[in-house]
Amino acid sequence: MKILVTGGAGYIGSHMTDMLVQKGYDVVVLDNLSTGFREAVLNAELVEGDIGDQSCLDGLFSKYKFDAVLHFAAFIEVEESVANPAKYYHNNLVNTITLLDAMVAHNIKQLIFSSTAAVFGEPEYTPIDEVHPKQPLNSYGRSKYLVEQLLSDYDKAYGLKSICLRYFNAAGCDPEGRLGPRHEPATHLIPLVLQAISGRKEAIKIFGNDYATRDGTCIRDYIHILDLCSAHLLALEKLASGGETTVYNLGNGNGFSVLEVIETAKQVTAKPIKVIECGRRAGDSAELIADSSKAKQALGWQPKFADLAQIIAHAWHWEQKF
Ligand code: UFG
Repeated sequence: MKILVTGGAGYIGSHMTDMLVQKGYDVVVLDNLSTGFREAVLNAELVEGDIGDQSCLDGLFSKYKFDAVLHFAAFIEVEESVANPAKYYHNNLVNTITLLDAMVAHNIKQLIFSSTAAVFGEPEYTPIDEVHPKQPLNSYGRSKYLVEQLLSDYDKAYGLKSICLRYFNAAGCDPEGRLGPRHEPATHLIPLVLQAISGRKEAIKIFGNDYATRDGTCIRDYIHILDLCSAHLLALEKLASGGETTVYNLGNGNGFSVLEVIETAKQVTAKPIKVIECGRRAGDSAELIADSSKAKQALGWQPKFADLAQIIAHAWHWEQKF
C-alpha cells in the first residue's frame, strides 16, 4: 500500500513513518517543517509542503496514487490554543478540510485521523469511553472535535472512510534512540521533567496542586508512542479490509499524577530534580484516563509498553543525546 503521512517529520508522525516503512509500506511524508525536522524522516521521501496548499496537494495526489492518508499535521499545545484559537482553527480545521477535499477529488477513500482526549473536556466519569460527552475545554480540543464530526458527513456524502484515534498522553520514544521529541522549547510533561533532570532546564514547574485528585496534581494516562503507532497499523488494516468510519480511544487505562511522573523519573534516572509549584495552567482537565476496550476488541490492539518507568526510560535514553 502507498501511504501519505502528513506531519511525518514530527514526534508521532516520524515514529509512525518509521514503523510503516519497517512493515513494508511505501510511504511519502508531507510536512511544512514548521515544527517538524527533516532528519526525523528515516527512509521515506519527504515532500516539503503544507496541507492547506491545494495546488501542492493536487500535484502530490496526481503524482502518487495513495491508498490511504495518515493525518498527523496539527498544532497540539493546549495553552497556546487558548491564547491563539485562530491559529488552531486555521490549521487543524480549515487546512484539514482542504486536505479532505483533495482526497475526495483524487478518489482517496481511507483516512486515519489523529484526534485527542482533549475532545472530552472535564470527565463526567472515568475511565473515558468513546461515547462520553464531548465538551472540549480549549480550542485545540474543539478543532479536533469539529474534524471528527465532519468526517462522518464526508463518509455519508463522499464515501471517505475514516478512523479517528483519540490519543491520551503520547510519551516515550523509539527504544533504540533514533527518534524522539525534538521540539524546543518542549511543552509536554515527561520531556520537561527529563530536561530538568539532565540540567537542560533549571527546574520543573508543577501547574496546579489544588485539583480534586489524590495528591492535588493533574492525572493523565501516558501511552507509549510505539503502542499508538501499532494501533494506527491495525486501524489501517481495518479500513483496507472494508472497515467502517469510527473512533477509538487510545490509552493504558492507568492514571499518573504530575507528582507521580516526577517521582518515577527520579527513580528511573537516579537523579534529583528541582520542582517549582505554580498556579493552574489554562485549559487543563483534572483527570484524563482512557477506556480503550473498544480498540482492544475491534482491532485486537494490545499495548506492549504500558509501564510508566519503561516509557520514561526510553525518553531518558533520548534526552541524554542532548
Ligand atoms: N504539566 C506541568 N508542568 C509542565 C508541563 C505540564 O505540571 O511543565 C502538567 C500539565 O498541567 C498537565 C500534565 O502535566 O496536568 C500533562 O501536561 P502535558 O502538557 O504533558 O499534556 P496535556 O495533558 O496538556 O496534553 C496532552 C496532549 C494533548 C492531548 C492531551 C490529552 O498535548 O494533545 O494530552 O490528555 F489532548
